[in-house]
Amino acid sequence: MNGSAPNSPETIGILGAGKVGTVLARLALAAGYRVLLAGSGDPAKIALTVDVLTPGAVATTGADAAARADIVILALPAFLPESRVVKAFNHLGYHDLEDKARPAGQPGRTAIAIAGDDPADLAAAASVVDKLGFDPVNAGPLAEGIRFEPGTELFGADVDANEVHARLDRFPDTERGQIIAHARAQTPTSAAVAHPASSHHTA
Ligand SMILES: NC(=O)c1ccc[n+]([C@@H]2O[C@H](COP(=O)([O-])OP(=O)(O)OC[C@H]3O[C@@H](n4cnc5c(N)ncnc54)[C@H](OP(=O)(O)O)[C@@H]3O)[C@@H](O)[C@H]2O)c1
Repeated sequence: MNGSAPNSPETIGILGAGKVGTVLARLALAAGYRVLLAGSGDPAKIALTVDVLTPGAVATTGADAAARADIVILALPAFLPESRVVKAFNHLGYHDLEDKARPAGQPGRTAIAIAGDDPADLAAAASVVDKLGFDPVNAGPLAEGIRFEPGTELFGADVDANEVHARLDRFPDTERGQIIAHARAQTPTSAAVAHPASSHHTA
């Protein structure tokens, strides 16, 4: 995050102009954000994508989007060992992201689990999730993002906040949960994450 108060970002940078990136760009524009969108290379390569799929967004480089945005969403496959990351928008398919965004307070609103290690980062990510149309559900530290990876009961689920909580809570009792618990018992330090205070991302 740069500049604005954590809970009221005005410019969202989205790195990745593929299926998820363009859907989130549309939702962010509809929610009133300014949107900077970047692919992996020259912004000219995504100019047509922006014109057709995300009119109102600005095509730019990843570096520029990261520098100018209040909050950055990573809509790309990525491994970021030296960044502060909140995992979000992961268990819902891009079609559901597009179709199921609803205003806050609507009964049965679709919920999205988030996981991160810093309470302020989690609050900022929760605010974005809410403004883009979904109930945020705090799943705990980043390492607990494993509870909504592919292969879990929550992955792919379009359900409300109560059901997201229930599926997160059930995870340790599932076959996948048992496998993860066993693996972590063998490598107790494997979930450690570095946190230099330089950047905040939502991915
Ligand atoms: N599809 C879904 O329903 C869904 C749902 C939830 C989460 N996800 C996750 O979201 C991520 C993106 O999925 P997707 O379906 O949107 O993939 P996608 O359609 O293949 O798009 C990926 C985008 O990332 C860009 N990219 C790759 N490396 C980059 C970099 N270093 N800097 C900037 N942009 C970069 C690619 O740009 P170039 O083409 O220029 O390389 C491409 O536009 C994946 O991790 C996926 O697991 C997907």
